[in-house]
Amino acid sequence: MERLDKIIASQGKYSRSEVKKLIKAGLVTLNGEKVKSGDVKADAERDTITVNGEGICYKKHIYIMLNKPQGVVSATDDPFHKTVIDLVPPSLFRQGLFPAGRLDGDTTGFVLITDDGDFAHRILSPKNHIIKTYHATLEHSLTQEDIKKFTEGIELKDGTLCLEAQVKMLTEEPPVAEVKIHEGKYHQVKRMFAALGNRVVALRRVKMGGLDLDENLREGECRELTVKEFEAICDN
Ligand code: URA
Repeated sequence: MERLDKIIASQGKYSRSEVKKLIKAGLVTLNGEKVKSGDVKADAERDTITVNGEGICYKKHIYIMLNKPQGVVSATDDPFHKTVIDLVPPSLFRQGLFPAGRLDGDTTGFVLITDDGDFAHRILSPKNHIIKTYHATLEHSLTQEDIKKFTEGIELKDGTLCLEAQVKMLTEEPPVAEVKIHEGKYHQVKRMFAALGNRVVALRRVKMGGLDLDENLREGECRELTVKEFEAICDN
């Protein structure tokens, strides 16, 4: 059981002070009864709560897919740049949102935004082997020897060893490779290609685990995941 005002505010649409005002105005009900005070306790999963005549469909956490454009930083706040959180529309916004994993400022594509710290930890841990798939436009194509090095685990220029990864060429003109990695070291994909004497000209994340970026989402747009999509992330 939790305070009713806290439950309502946790869903993002109303701030705690707005909830207090709504309660004072008699616009909040709990199981059909008008509520007189925010400190009433309720069971968020079971009780029926309405605000302003609208039912609250309680969700403990939210999971949002963003198609990140270039120039937006994967942070919760930044004094100089737009952040991925700035792109979340008010209808999906709630306190505590953060990007589960970072893309470089110039990398585009799939960023998962959530307020579920445990889930983020699970999908980011190399132990759990959630595969992240990228499309990398390269300066030049890969040799068979390069591809072999990816499958054996590339050694970065500073001596860091990467876990084995998969790579294949998707197109030759321009040279675009698909790369699948199980970890998320700083600038990892760019540094892997740099270790082979190549250069990433453009990078896009297209998949997390078993979930593809929705290509109907334009850059800068986001939407909430369905339960099936959420489950697909952990299903490589
Ligand atoms: N690897 C990179 O080099 N950059 C990213 O943004 C993601 C993976």
